[in-house]
Amino acid sequence: MAKAKQKIGVLTGGGDCPGLNPVIRGIVRKGIEEYGYEMVGLYHGWKGLVEKDTGPLDLRAVSGILHRGGTILGTSRTNPAKIENGYEKAKAAFKELGLDALIAIGGEDTLGVANKLCKLGCPVVGVPKTIDNDLSGTDFTFGFDTSVNIVMEAIDRLHTTAESHDRVLVCEVMGRHAGWIAVYGGMAGGADYILIPEEKFDLKEVCDSIKHRHSKGKNFSIIVAAEGAQPKAGGEGAEFFTKDKSLDAFGHVKLGGIGDALAKAIEQSTGFETRSVVLGHIQRGGSPTAFDRVLGTRFGVAAIDLVNKKDFGKMVALQGNKIIAIPIEKAVAKLKTVDPDLYDIAKVFFG
Ligand code: F6P
Repeated sequence: MAKAKQKIGVLTGGGDCPGLNPVIRGIVRKGIEEYGYEMVGLYHGWKGLVEKDTGPLDLRAVSGILHRGGTILGTSRTNPAKIENGYEKAKAAFKELGLDALIAIGGEDTLGVANKLCKLGCPVVGVPKTIDNDLSGTDFTFGFDTSVNIVMEAIDRLHTTAESHDRVLVCEVMGRHAGWIAVYGGMAGGADYILIPEEKFDLKEVCDSIKHRHSKGKNFSIIVAAEGAQPKAGGEGAEFFTKDKSLDAFGHVKLGGIGDALAKAIEQSTGFETRSVVLGHIQRGGSPTAFDRVLGTRFGVAAIDLVNKKDFGKMVALQGNKIIAIPIEKAVAKLKTVDPDLYDIAKVFFG
């Protein structure tokens, strides 16, 4: 009797980002063509595992997806820990679906669950994904480069209108606990001040810096604020800027509002007309850049190689220009925040 093919599941969890489809394509192409696996997609993150909502992931399914944003598998922030007997259900589903291994593509939340499932005996491999670029152990995550390019282009556009109207424009970008998008996007776009979650800001310092710039003959300024930045005045444990108190499915408060609040405060303090723009999900949508397509492809191929080697509990990562594997546990132990040396370089151009 012919030996049954090994069955490998793939899921994408958390916020989507450009580059997910290149990862899926890399996994499936090598998984089927070289290793002869049967590949199966689990829909909408951990929800797909818990509810056994799956479908075939064959060569046809991954044809023509390299340039497409989002994820063909759908995603969600479903957290098994928030479902009654969630982990038991996930473990049982793993068995019932006949999975020999699972590749989980996600950020700290999704990989935190992957780590837990591994400890419960399910063979899982992780692929790091976050637009925020804040996962430890990898120099970059795919999606980040695309998002930085979107922010840069937005700032370029804000420049011309800010200059024409002698305005201050505050651009609110993504970045819950880490300001990588704000720093890279702001530096690339020539921002005049950048606020990040890693360093609490002093409103007076921001306003003084804008006034100083305008005293040198400039009549406009561009301020980039990460959504998770907080004022010093709030002290330790100051609250995030949020639209309301509602939580997402994983249990995180939904951020938003810093741009608007800052614009009002800056206008009041400096007397310069100030407006705000929230880039929001535009940063996560659309086609991935060449860098993200290549990184996603490399991650996907490396992930299925780990499965083939039965090297479970590991996450693929980019270090220097090499793809390596590190324990998932290490990657989710602590967030990778903005390098202070990089932020110091950005500060040279403030004011
Ligand atoms: O975690 C990535 C991220 O893009 C954060 O920067 C942002 O706070 C959050 O997701 C927004 O999530 P969603 O749009 O999925 O609610």
